[in-house]
Amino acid sequence: MCGITARVGDDDAVDTLLTGLANLEYRGYDSAGLAMENGDGLEVYKREGDLSSLRDAIDAERAEGHIGIGHTRWSTHGAPTNENAHPHTDCTNQVAVVHNGIIENHATLREELTARGHTFTSETDTEVVPHVMEEFLEEGASVESAFRDTISMLSGSFAVAVLVEETGELYATRKGSPLVLGVGENEYFLASDAPAFLEFTDQVVYLEDGDVVRASAEDHHITDANGDPVDRPVQSIDWSPEDAEKGGYDHYMKKEIHEQPTALAQTVRGRVEDGHTGATFEAFSRGEFSDVKQVQFLACGTSYHAALYAQQLLAQRGVPAQVFRAGEYATNPAPLGDDTLVVGVTQSGETADTLGSLRHASDAGARTLAVTNVVGSTAARECDDAVFIRAGPEIGVAATKTFSSQVATLGLLAEQIARDREEANHEEYTSGQSAFLEGVSTLSENVQWLLEGNDVENLVDRYRDADAYFFIGRGVMHPVAKEGALKFKEITYEHAEGFAAGELKHGPLALVTPDTPVFALFSGENDEKTLNNVKEVQARGAPVIGVTATDASEVVDTVDDVLEIPPTHPALAGVAANVQLQLISYHMADRLNRAIDKPRNLAKSVTVE
Ligand code: F6R
Repeated sequence: MCGITARVGDDDAVDTLLTGLANLEYRGYDSAGLAMENGDGLEVYKREGDLSSLRDAIDAERAEGHIGIGHTRWSTHGAPTNENAHPHTDCTNQVAVVHNGIIENHATLREELTARGHTFTSETDTEVVPHVMEEFLEEGASVESAFRDTISMLSGSFAVAVLVEETGELYATRKGSPLVLGVGENEYFLASDAPAFLEFTDQVVYLEDGDVVRASAEDHHITDANGDPVDRPVQSIDWSPEDAEKGGYDHYMKKEIHEQPTALAQTVRGRVEDGHTGATFEAFSRGEFSDVKQVQFLACGTSYHAALYAQQLLAQRGVPAQVFRAGEYATNPAPLGDDTLVVGVTQSGETADTLGSLRHASDAGARTLAVTNVVGSTAARECDDAVFIRAGPEIGVAATKTFSSQVATLGLLAEQIARDREEANHEEYTSGQSAFLEGVSTLSENVQWLLEGNDVENLVDRYRDADAYFFIGRGVMHPVAKEGALKFKEITYEHAEGFAAGELKHGPLALVTPDTPVFALFSGENDEKTLNNVKEVQARGAPVIGVTATDASEVVDTVDDVLEIPPTHPALAGVAANVQLQLISYHMADRLNRAIDKPRNLAKSVTVE
């Protein structure tokens, strides 16, 4: 949340900075700004609203400069206004700062600085940074030591990039918020996330907490918090710039829904043993999980739903597992020991709630594993191990392809954990699971089939005037019902809720009327029970859309409309059903003219608690 970007080179930086901001807009989009050195001091442009307002202001002024910093904001402290937009500057306008995260001691610092005569122009926590630095510079400190001394006074989590006039250098650091360095030819980039500069370089340095970077057009230096040089390797990213572009689709979300067959194929590639006899991960050898007695999942939002799904897959294989909302875990921790495997499920690998709860589990002695999409992310680096879901970059704020890839990855992980435990206990490996592994291997084709024959648009017209939308399912279809409702409310702004099918009669049925369509999800297992729940809502006049394989003839005959999924292993039917629900949400949001890729009040990467 909030995207920061910076660029220094020997030619004009304005276009590269604006491109970087456009590529980071998914991290926040309520205001944007840019500061540049133009040879005559710092020029700062800030506009509330999306990037187009900033772009217009910059075009009008014909701004230019070879070094600059930029920011796209998701408000935490202060409303989205021109004044609160970043960059923030000091009283002398010689220091400009962009920041992602929260400076927890900002109120005390502001009070002290105000008492010493500093004037603040925004309500943000960030603005203390340039003013503190101004004082150190006035005392005669070098820019680098002023930057270090300033950072040492801040508490909280942050990534900060600073531009000081007439230095030709960028300074930046991170503590608990993401920041990467891009290495180009005679140019360097800093950004919250690599897609910001992917069009210009695929060479990246993943910075560690406490690292301080100094970059000029010619070179870069990285030192630790004590000022000692540290060696961070330059790595190549295998995401192409096209992966992070819309590629002819109207929205990133639509593109990412349609990328699911490819994403799933990448997720599974090389991880299912020949003959579907077992799952194998590049990071792990056989027996890696022999000692695991229980699994705890920590996650938020869509990733939480993927974890709920995985819990059921583990339970089916006899492995006890619990799922926690990461934001609640530290407040109300569950008992764990060194035989507990704690799995953080996080697309971005940067969600503050998830990172906080993983750190808590690690401090309590548990082994931690990150299941993430982003190589080099904080979760991947901080956990004992990491498994990558390999879905490719996801830019739309609503998570789509990454849910599918998370479920597939976690399904394979469940297989390896179960087998390691069974082998350690000298039990026979229950390779009846090969049907499951075959199902995982065919997920990509199944989703492709579904996307080709898809016809949800008529349904959208039929149900667009409803009062609310309910989603129900049993077993693995329960987390999918919750995920379907989350996606629906997130991008259509209509009221939607997901329930365990059998739970309706314990309360939520009171909400059901002829104006509340119910999406009922059928996996092929326990369908007759869900069908009873369908009849209960139909008796209250609600229309029912069944998401089902069409060989379930009783289901097809009972429901009012059908969204078809291909016949598959019941434990995996949720992946295809979820794709149908993504399409419904997408097309409904499109009809309602919603900002599909950037829904109001949200941001993709939530780096505050
Ligand atoms: C919903 C959505 C969010 C994220 C949540 C966790 O479409 O995208 O609910 O799933 O913020 O994010 P990650 O997975 O990056 O930890």
